Parts: sequence; C-alpha cells; structure tokens
Amino acid sequence: MIGKNVLITGANSGIGKETAIALARKGAQIIMLCRNEEKSKNAINEIKERANTEQVDLIIADLSNQDSIFSAVTQFKQKYDHLDVLINNAGSILRNRKETLEGYEMTFAVNHLGHFIMTLLLLDTLIKSSPSRIINVSSAAHRFGKINFENINLEGSYSSFRAYSNSKLANVLFTYELARRLEGLGVTVNALHPGTVNSNFGRGQFSKILTPFMAFSTLFMINPEKGAETSVYLASSDEVKDISGKYFKKCKAIKSSKESYDKENQIKLWKLSLEMVNRQDLLLSNQAVLKT
Ligand SMILES: NC(=O)c1ccc[n+]([C@@H]2O[C@H](COP(=O)([O-])OP(=O)(O)OC[C@H]3O[C@@H](n4cnc5c(N)ncnc54)[C@H](OP(=O)(O)O)[C@@H]3O)[C@@H](O)[C@H]2O)c1
Repeated sequence: MIGKNVLITGANSGIGKETAIALARKGAQIIMLCRNEEKSKNAINEIKERANTEQVDLIIADLSNQDSIFSAVTQFKQKYDHLDVLINNAGSILRNRKETLEGYEMTFAVNHLGHFIMTLLLLDTLIKSSPSRIINVSSAAHRFGKINFENINLEGSYSSFRAYSNSKLANVLFTYELARRLEGLGVTVNALHPGTVNSNFGRGQFSKILTPFMAFSTLFMINPEKGAETSVYLASSDEVKDISGKYFKKCKAIKSSKESYDKENQIKLWKLSLEMVNRQDLLLSNQAVLKT
C-alpha cells in the first residue's frame, strides 16, 4: 500500500480505526474523515503509534450535513491529487428518530446518503487514480431491511433496527448499482459485513431492558481488529483487484439478501438519493461519465 491514499470515514473508532492501523502498517497514507476533532486527535496519536507512521491526516466532516461533506471533499481535493481506496465505514444506530438539517431521517442520511454524496463527489479522483477501490461497510442486518420508497424518512413507523437495517440494505443496493455504472472505468466497489464486533457501536442507544443483554453479548463478539479484516482485505489484496459488485463476509464473497439484488430498487434508490442532494450541480459532471 506504499504510495496509496486511503480515505476512511469514521476512522476514529472501532472497525474504522483498526482498518486505518492495518493499512497504515502496510505503508498507506491514511486520511481519516471524522466528525469530532477532539476524539479524532486521540485516535490519530494511537494510529501513528501503533502503526509506527506519520502518514495520518484528518478531515472533519459530519456525514449528516451535506454542506460539511461538500467542504470536506473540496479540502481533500486541494491537498491530494489521487485516491486509491475509499472506505465508507462510518455508521450508527439511533434509539430515537432524529432528522438532519435537510429534514431526512438521520440513520439513512448518515449510513447511506452521506456516503452516496461523498462517493459521487470523489468519482473523478477515483477514476483518475484507477485501478482504485470503493468499500462499503454494510451489515448482516441488511437482510432484515425493506426500503419503503414512499416513506424513506420512516415517519410514523420508526424503530431503530428498522432504520438501521434499511440503511444497511441501501449500502448493498448502492454497491451493486454503482458497480454496474462503473464498469470499464477501473474502479471496483464491494460491500461487506464485518462480523459482530465489540466496538462503540450502539453504545447508549439501547433501551434499559436491552442494555444488560447487550453488555452480556459483548462476550461473544469479535474485537475491532478482527472486525477490520474484511475491509483491509478488500482494500489491499491482489486477489480482489478485479472483483466488483460483490458482498463479502470473512474475506469471502457470499450472497446478500434477495431484496438487495432487485435491479428496479437499485435504480430507484439511486434516483431518490440524487433527488435528496441539495447541490445536485456538484455531482453532475461525475455522473456523466457513468453508465446509465
Ligand atoms: N459493530 C458491529 O457489530 C457491526 C456489525 C455490522 C456492521 N457494522 C458497521 O461497521 C461500521 C463501523 O462501526 P463500528 O462497529 O466500528 O462502530 P463505532 O465504533 O461506533 O464507529 C462508528 C464510527 O462512525 C462515526 N460516525 C457516526 N456518525 C457519523 C456522522 N454523522 N458523521 C461522521 N462520522 C460518523 C463515529 O464517529 P463518533 O466516534 O464521532 O461517534 C465512529 O467513528 C458501521 O457502518 C456499522 O454499521 C458494525
């Protein structure tokens, strides 16, 4: 990975941080995209120390805020002229329904829409840097997802798990549609399930009844280092350099849910996501190079 630029969202914690450490150890320049400067500074120090490197940079962005994403991508492009690997890793589950500034349901906005926007904005750089790779960290929870295109914001029907599993299904639908549109351009895109990982994920978001159960279940979870293995494999292994449009678990391509292969929904989600972007003009030139 020497000479490669790797941008990782949510790299200050859990799976993202361990992915950063493993790829930094392989020689990559890491660019962390995180929302909290204070937390990220501690993570930078840890990544530098554990990977014995100085090649760690930070861009601040909140994926729930579209202007913040536009500005982060501008900052990235001002500083770096190539991007070899983009890892869309950040994600959350929220006990109570929240909305973004644009009025979108927060889980969908962060886990899917924010990454959709960032990826499309970075496509020119990824294509220029080809062969390059995009990795979308989804979840086995996508199997419970069923996107209601009539009520994407889950008004009146919110549950944390419904919102989360729908957003993770959106990650897989997006992966397959983007892989099709990117054919022949030298950029691969794959999705993955990292395993059930004892990270900060979901902390404070479970009800009083579920909290002791979740604390107990951490005993059976894998650690974040192990949870990063499939992301690291997809980012760096020669075995997958030409593989695109697949869903991985434990470094192997496996079938995702039946729902995720629905071509009509893949296109529907793409179109709906575009409609949800408040600066579509910024995405137009990058969209134009893709297959329709
Ligand atoms: N843990 C599991 O068992 C598991 C299983 C399947 C899939 N996953 C997926 O794995 C990915 C990583 O999760 P993890 O387990 O490593 O959890 P984690 O330790 O909670 O890390 C999540 C990261 O996402 C960041 N993030 C959340 N909302 C954000 C926003 N609005 N803008 C920018 N960054 C934001 C967090 O930032 P802060 O630190 O500032 O909150 C944190 O860096 C997620 O996509 C998750 O869905 C996890």
